[in-house]
Amino acid sequence: MVQPINNYTVIDKKLLAGIFKQYAIECRTTPLYEHLSLKIADDPELLELAAFTKDKQPLPNMLFAAVHYLLLNDTQEELADFYPNLKITNRPIEEAFPIFKAFCEKQYDTIKHLIATRATQTNGINRCAYLVPVIASIAAKENKSVHLVEIGPSAGLNLWWEDYKIQYEKETTFVEYGASDSKVVLKTMLKGDFMPRLDQPVNIASRIGIDQNPVDLRQKDQADWLKALIWPNHTNRFGRMEAAVELACDRTQNFLIKGDTIPDFRAAIDSIPRDQLVIIYHTHVLYQFSQQERESFWQMLEEVSKERDFYYINAECTRTQRIKHETADTPVELVTYKNFQKTETLVAITNGHADWIQFIQENWNL
Ligand SMILES: C[S@@+](CC[C@H](N)C(=O)[O-])C[C@H]1O[C@@H](n2cnc3c(N)ncnc32)[C@H](O)[C@@H]1O
Repeated sequence: MVQPINNYTVIDKKLLAGIFKQYAIECRTTPLYEHLSLKIADDPELLELAAFTKDKQPLPNMLFAAVHYLLLNDTQEELADFYPNLKITNRPIEEAFPIFKAFCEKQYDTIKHLIATRATQTNGINRCAYLVPVIASIAAKENKSVHLVEIGPSAGLNLWWEDYKIQYEKETTFVEYGASDSKVVLKTMLKGDFMPRLDQPVNIASRIGIDQNPVDLRQKDQADWLKALIWPNHTNRFGRMEAAVELACDRTQNFLIKGDTIPDFRAAIDSIPRDQLVIIYHTHVLYQFSQQERESFWQMLEEVSKERDFYYINAECTRTQRIKHETADTPVELVTYKNFQKTETLVAITNGHADWIQFIQENWNL
């Protein structure tokens, strides 16, 4: 049974309950988590367990991920009946909570250890769907092989896009890019009529990813943790992740470097000869930087531009970027540093997981 911990006050419990109630609102598209969050909010023992979550990590995400992580390796558990990505059953969600709670009690120590030691982590593979056309256009224009430098690549899955099949759907038609027989199939809806050219070959000369917490997919527990953070009814995302992990897990991990400082990023860029074509990019990373770190990062890019030409793509849903591009969604921005001139272009708007993309036709003159 759950042991009482620490010295929570009534106010703390109210605070924790409030966090789970808020999460229930945020995860409305995942009825299982919505239902469980509301039940947990009224359950002092589960709130106490969730409170073991590592500092600065979101409690509900961590508790649900820990449970999901354990189920991935034990789909015989009755609780797995409620996870559409693990089993096809039609059990009503209203039956889930007592089974969820019993599972948490049985696995109490393991869950406590997982949430106390791990952190949330994602790798949104579908984001390749907007990166690829930009990179392909740059490569075609420069007619050179490309050196890729990704900041905050997580497991580095957005550095292997030429091995994926990407489908761009527009009503009943779709355009396809990449490896037609790939098991990793990315899908996105096109908003607007414009689709950039995709028939331009890209030669990758090298790839480097620098992350403060790189995920080593050869370690099954790391790959499973990445999967566990996906909401269970997002079966497409889950399937994509499973296929991508299978594709990438036996590849060399040398391209992934552990690092999180400006000198680390600078060293990676400087490792590429100055006459080579470099594309630096990051997606959904800078919101984890402090404002000071963001300023230093951009300043570093300015310094680099005094020594070489390069291209820089970012997709960040930060307030600053949204205001700058007058959108409530995620702007995809291309910054060209060429001959000491800097040009910023909004090339697309998208949502967090690139379920849809609107390429901005008038700006697509790369
Ligand atoms: C939300 S994930 C996005 C991962 C990937 N870019 C994607 O779009 O799927 C943010 C990533 O940024 C990394 N990160 C955060 N701050 C960082 C820093 N200062 N230096 C390097 N990586 C960082 C995290 O470890 C994590 O892998």
